[in-house]
Amino acid sequence: IDRYAVMGHPVSHSLSPRIHQQFAAETGQKLEYEAILVPREGFSGAVARFRSAGGRGLNITVPFKEEAWRLAGKLSARARAAGAVNTLSFGATNDILGDNTDGVGLLTDLTCNLGLILAGRRILLLGAGGAARGVIGPLLAERPTTLIIANRNRVRAEQLAADFSLQGPISGCGLDTLSDEAPFDLIVNATSASLAGEALALPTNLTASQTFAYDMVYAAAPTPFMRWSVAHGAACAADGLGMLVEQAAEAFFVWRGIRPRTPSVITDLRDFLS
Ligand code: ATR
Repeated sequence: IDRYAVMGHPVSHSLSPRIHQQFAAETGQKLEYEAILVPREGFSGAVARFRSAGGRGLNITVPFKEEAWRLAGKLSARARAAGAVNTLSFGATNDILGDNTDGVGLLTDLTCNLGLILAGRRILLLGAGGAARGVIGPLLAERPTTLIIANRNRVRAEQLAADFSLQGPISGCGLDTLSDEAPFDLIVNATSASLAGEALALPTNLTASQTFAYDMVYAAAPTPFMRWSVAHGAACAADGLGMLVEQAAEAFFVWRGIRPRTPSVITDLRDFLS
């Protein structure tokens, strides 16, 4: 039986085994998928052991996505641009293939599940870490009129915007200089503030009745960012549960060549979380 796993630290909370087992059942594929806790200094050894035991592929989560990027012998174009890898495949050759399905996962959730159109729209991306970097290419590919990266540390936002400046209308600024901006059509929170249960210090001119707010973090209850957005006039707010399922579906497709249906899995996880 083909073996897959997610590696992280921590990893016990991971919903990936539940998601991939449902994908396998739904598509009639025979596979095993487990969660493996890896010590912080032990990533490459854990990957080598999993592989020599016959493992076929891995999902990689915090804090190993950059290390996985360095470990992969071959990178997909989207993984190269993201600077991080969340999906490893072990093929017949010796190469380890690194891919990143996070950006596609976000875009599939926004456009297919939530029905948003991003072409010609104004987008604000909050945060300038690895989570933000992974979704910039796919967001720009939708051809928004503007993509602004805003970060607590302004220099990080400016550098990140500069890295993608050839791909579309992108700029970077500090969170504290957003108060002159017109409202956005989409605001994506890619900071880790919600994970810590913290609210961001944001001005109130960012949201209006056309604003859709999206937090890449998921939780049983609306996150501080979701509550803040709706309290300040946003039309709608969603958490990142759909992105989680869609990035998994894309990884499943990379490994198995078959695309699982996702709506029933999203519904199951929402029930499971609450
Ligand atoms: P990740 O890989 O999840 O993106 P990261 O690279 O550590 O993790 O980045 C975390 C992001 O969340 C950064 O953009 C960080 O802002 P700084 O670059 O200014 O540190 C942002 N962040 C975390 N906590 C925050 C908070 N309380 N308020 C605002 N931004 C926060």
